[in-house]
Amino acid sequence: MTRFHICAAAAGLFLAATLGGRPALSQETPVVIEICAQCHGEAGISTAPLTPNLAGQRQKYLLKQLRSFRDPGRESADGELLSDRSHPIMNAMTERLNDAELFRLAKYYSKLSCGPEASVKPLPMPEGADKCEVCHGGSRSNPFTDTPVLAGQKADYLLRQLDLMRKPERDLAERNKRRHRLSEIMLDDLDRDQLKEISAYFASLSCHIPE
Ligand code: HEC
Ligand code: HEC
Repeated sequence: MTRFHICAAAAGLFLAATLGGRPALSQETPVVIEICAQCHGEAGISTAPLTPNLAGQRQKYLLKQLRSFRDPGRESADGELLSDRSHPIMNAMTERLNDAELFRLAKYYSKLSCGPEASVKPLPMPEGADKCEVCHGGSRSNPFTDTPVLAGQKADYLLRQLDLMRKPERDLAERNKRRHRLSEIMLDDLDRDQLKEISAYFASLSCHIPE
């Protein structure tokens, strides 16, 4: 166990003790948010390279992720696994939260400002990134509420997600995995150097993309 994991386990225990089950009390939410802030930052902007910013992210997308972490491996109505996500810390974080609380958390973070305008110049668009922008926006708008905005996100975090989605079975032992069939197909013909470049490109863009 790393120090990070111990810290996460402690935060999970605190969460369990604080909530003691799954009550839907609105005054609990600020307490929960203080725990989230330890990793995701007070204003939803994290400082750790592998921990995503949450501020200004799409509400529907955030809710879907929180529900996936809480109920990893849930199948679609026809029994097919279309999307799945598991991470030891986030599994523990969401374990005791009910639907209403997850909804409130997603709403809270989606309403926060995604941060100040980037002070660095955006990188030029690498080959292959234009097809990502159709859904994710970037230099143009992202029309889909269930599709995350990548602009201004942590580059290392994005690359990690791409690694997980490209080879979803890879980190099974670590309980860190991510499966999304559509994304797997999108990443098929890109090698890792290209994915690294694309991650750095999106991270360099301003999160204040036009709606
Ligand atoms: C101990 C650190 C830690 C704490 C505390 C924590 N998180 Fe996370 N969170 C992470 C990490 C690391 C990831 C990236 C997981 C991955 O790689 O799949 C993550 C991912 C997420 C994501 C997915 C974001 C995206 O862009 O896909 C959401 C949403 C989220 N956390 C919300 C929360 C909320 C809400 C809380 C409080 C209840 C919380 N987190 C507490 C570390 C933490
Ligand atoms: C047809 C629409 C579509 C296209 C095109 C697409 N994606 Fe996605 N992508 C999605 C959706 C939807 C999700 C959310 C998956 C989920 O719910 O877990 C996603 C998730 C992601 C994530 C995780 C982000 C986070 O915050 O955790 C990354 C990174 C990503 N895509 C990168 C890419 C890249 C790079 C490309 C281009 C090679 C691309 N996507 C093309 C729809 C698309």
